[in-house]
Amino acid sequence: MKRILVLGAGGQVGSELVPHLRGIYGNDRVIATDVNAGRREGIPGDGPFEVLDALDGEAFNHLVGKYRVDTIFNLVAVLSATGERNPELAWNINIGALTHSLCIGKERGCAVFTPSSIGAFGKDTPKDKTPQDTIQRASTTIYGVCKVAGELLSDYYFHRFGVDTRSVRFPGLISHVTPPGGGTTDYAVEIFHAAVREGAFTCNIKAGTYMDMMYMPDALDAVVRLMEADPARLKHRNSFNIAAMSFDPEEIAAAIRRHVPAFRLSYDVDPVKQAIADSWPNSMDDSCAREEWGWRPAYDLPAMTREMIEKVGEKLAGSNAARGL
Ligand code: SER
Repeated sequence: MKRILVLGAGGQVGSELVPHLRGIYGNDRVIATDVNAGRREGIPGDGPFEVLDALDGEAFNHLVGKYRVDTIFNLVAVLSATGERNPELAWNINIGALTHSLCIGKERGCAVFTPSSIGAFGKDTPKDKTPQDTIQRASTTIYGVCKVAGELLSDYYFHRFGVDTRSVRFPGLISHVTPPGGGTTDYAVEIFHAAVREGAFTCNIKAGTYMDMMYMPDALDAVVRLMEADPARLKHRNSFNIAAMSFDPEEIAAAIRRHVPAFRLSYDVDPVKQAIADSWPNSMDDSCAREEWGWRPAYDLPAMTREMIEKVGEKLAGSNAARGL
């Protein structure tokens, strides 16, 4: 049974992955860590929490030893749009956390999971049914450069030192629990909150811009399934394309109108985010993940929309009740 340490546990993925992992492996076997002590509140349930700056290799190594960790989930990331405001900082954080994870993985024999992203592709990559193995030389963001470098570095540590590194290329992740921060795909989360609160949304990505997206329960399932996969079946490692749905703003708005018929969508395009979105795939081919470790998403656009509208609605009703509205 695994003993897991999660870096960046208070973020968009970590705040849901930690309780998910604790449900599978037990509360005490999953150590949540975050650089920000305040983020502890955002992680539901019981289990160890430690404040850790993943760039502090000594403190990181100490915790891995203290809890006899055998698997590191490195979820530290500055996302695509924020990264462009300070590329050097984004590189230091994204690559720094990965480098420490790999060095400690090598020293202590830990497996290492680090997400990659649709951002690992660029403007020379085939846009439709983007293959598993294809051109990745034209990332337009420092985030993408970090993801490509991270994929290479993780494969290097596997081939050179036998570190059990594994990764998926996440699409835009949609969840009703913790909001994303500073990503290009964030509109696909914000649109649900705006639809439920105001019945209207101003989108910063143009109509007709397709990107891969995924509902968080599928993303969590993918991570666990990949890390539990029989290594003998893995022809790839860093990193697997995984896909669930691809849509443009008009299509997600149409799905929302089935539940909020008067929903209105308008546009105020952010040129930085639009340029990033235009450089990413319309939809990825995930057949290698399906063949090598049985990847299969449960949610399509209608199923995700139904659940998002319901859960965001419950949250809004709860916060209105708490404020006596
Ligand atoms: N959701 C991320 C972003 O938009 C992509 O992986 O930056």
